[in-house]
Amino acid sequence: MNPLNHVAIIMDGNGRWGLKHKNSRNAGHKAGLNTVESIIKQSIKNKIKYLTLFAFSTENWKRPKKEINYLFNLLENFLINKIDDLHKQNIKVKIIGSKNFSKKLNLLLNSAEKKTSKNSKIQINLALNYGAKFELISAIKKLQKNKDKIDEKNIEKFLYTKNIPDPDLMIRTGNTKRLSNFLLWQLAYAEIFFEKKMWPDFNDKDYLKIINDYKNLKRNFGKI
Ligand code: FPP
Repeated sequence: MNPLNHVAIIMDGNGRWGLKHKNSRNAGHKAGLNTVESIIKQSIKNKIKYLTLFAFSTENWKRPKKEINYLFNLLENFLINKIDDLHKQNIKVKIIGSKNFSKKLNLLLNSAEKKTSKNSKIQINLALNYGAKFELISAIKKLQKNKDKIDEKNIEKFLYTKNIPDPDLMIRTGNTKRLSNFLLWQLAYAEIFFEKKMWPDFNDKDYLKIINDYKNLKRNFGKI
């Protein structure tokens, strides 16, 4: 049985789900938040120590302003209403990505990170304004500036995921098979599962099936 320490998820399909069921993409994002909560619970039950969720990419700024505002409002309300509960459950929240949002959201994100920084049940890495190419270029620029050797260990020191073990398993919902600039370095040896269901329809049973299939895989890491 493979150990499972870190799961990364591309929560795709909110927009399509929302349009199909409620004639509104934003309704899909709202429904997607319920899935986020149940997947966090299941991850804890399954003793997963890190859960990385792709909530907003550097490319998502190209969406209509109305949708972007809706997503950030949803996130603000989530932080305002749920952070005490997350803290009580001993959950650590970390943001990966560049925090250049509104002053209000930046404050909320910083305070969520600070408040939960010592928690140890599970670490939720929320990828926000995250892009893997930008992350890698920034890391290499920092190494160049410091005249440090460009090697694996040094690059990892400057990634958002410094000190976080690489994901063992990456799941993308929404019936699309691509990585979309997500954790390109960190996913080098992850097992990847593409799920047909849209994120709001993805349930505990689907998650447990993937976890079980992952655990029974033969992982070689280049060996035979
Ligand atoms: C991708 O679906 C999803 C997003 C860009 C946003 C993810 C946000 C949530 C799950 C809810 C908010 C989360 C938190 C943590 C507050 P899409 O819109 O690209 O779907 P589509 O491919 O059907 O258009």
